[in-house]
Amino acid sequence: MTKIGIVTGGGDAPGLNAVIRSVVLTAHHKHGWEVVGIEEGFDGLLSDTPTIPLDVANVRDLLSLGGTILGTTNKGQFHPLSTQEMKALNSVSQQTVKIIETLGLAGVIATGGDGTMKIAHKLVELGAPIVGVPKTIDNDLSATDVTFGFDTAISIATDSLERLKTTAQSHKRVMILEVMGRDAGWIALHAGIAGGADAILIPEIPFRIDVIAAHLQQKRDMGQRYNLVIVAEGAHPYDGEQLFYIEGDSPDDKRLGGISRIVGDRLTERMDAEVRVAVLGHIQRGGQPTSRDRLLATAFGAKAIDLVRQQKWGHMVALKGAEIVDVPMADAILLNSVDVDGMWVQIARDLGISFG
Ligand code: F6P
Repeated sequence: MTKIGIVTGGGDAPGLNAVIRSVVLTAHHKHGWEVVGIEEGFDGLLSDTPTIPLDVANVRDLLSLGGTILGTTNKGQFHPLSTQEMKALNSVSQQTVKIIETLGLAGVIATGGDGTMKIAHKLVELGAPIVGVPKTIDNDLSATDVTFGFDTAISIATDSLERLKTTAQSHKRVMILEVMGRDAGWIALHAGIAGGADAILIPEIPFRIDVIAAHLQQKRDMGQRYNLVIVAEGAHPYDGEQLFYIEGDSPDDKRLGGISRIVGDRLTERMDAEVRVAVLGHIQRGGQPTSRDRLLATAFGAKAIDLVRQQKWGHMVALKGAEIVDVPMADAILLNSVDVDGMWVQIARDLGISFG
């Protein structure tokens, strides 16, 4: 019987388990294939138990379950893919390719973001039969219109703005919500529009604090009792850098966070209003995926099985318009940042939302 593997890598995203379920069900019902899971990213292949069995019964309840039952890592032996560690990585990679062969895996489905696709691409170059499924709540992969996890993240961020709104209204406060978004401000942009923010700060548009303060004050002068500001973690002032709360040896080790507090302090200095800050953090990455994310994850899983059938190694599933297509994995590592002249930014500006 044909046996294939599935692995999840990088930061998790709601919908990963729905992909696992879709892969197992489609493999079984459409082709009669067996599926095994690789735990803790590609590192699992190098462990004592390189795979675990997955079957129709044990994926039964995965559709709505957040996280990934396989575990994941953005550390581990394959990280980081920096040049100085390329040598070590080469030997680990060659070992991994051998293990995939020894285990008799006819194909491996790698679900992850740009880091995972880089690793998978390298393994494919060394001869491994791997196809990709893109994932990130940030929606910052250029090869696909949307990634699953994004809809869940913006729903949670929008709901958070709604909750902040009622307390802001009671106290006449300025409420600031910090959301994820390292290099791309899609979560802040979409949740900001959907949640009625007065200002949206994103990495692509460096902000001026005086402009934001004046904008919020103007809204108050027009009778608005409160203000909502949404800030992507990667946003920065035009004369300043991004703010990290975890520094690291490589860029991959650094973690952004804290810019909303700086924005809050600066607004307090400039405005005659109380300012409060909320950092959403990993709450926007946990819990149940929305039905839209479940659908996308399910479609991606089914398409990945088709890529394995076609032996399209080195290709990744993607959403283009209304179609699920496949694209070279190498394309996945290109950043999809917010187009500052694009439709959503323009709509926001037309609504009187400031980008600072
Ligand atoms: O890439 C997804 C992401 O959620 C980023 O928005 C965020 O900066 C990062 O992962 C957080 O990573 P970690 O889970 O390692 O803290």
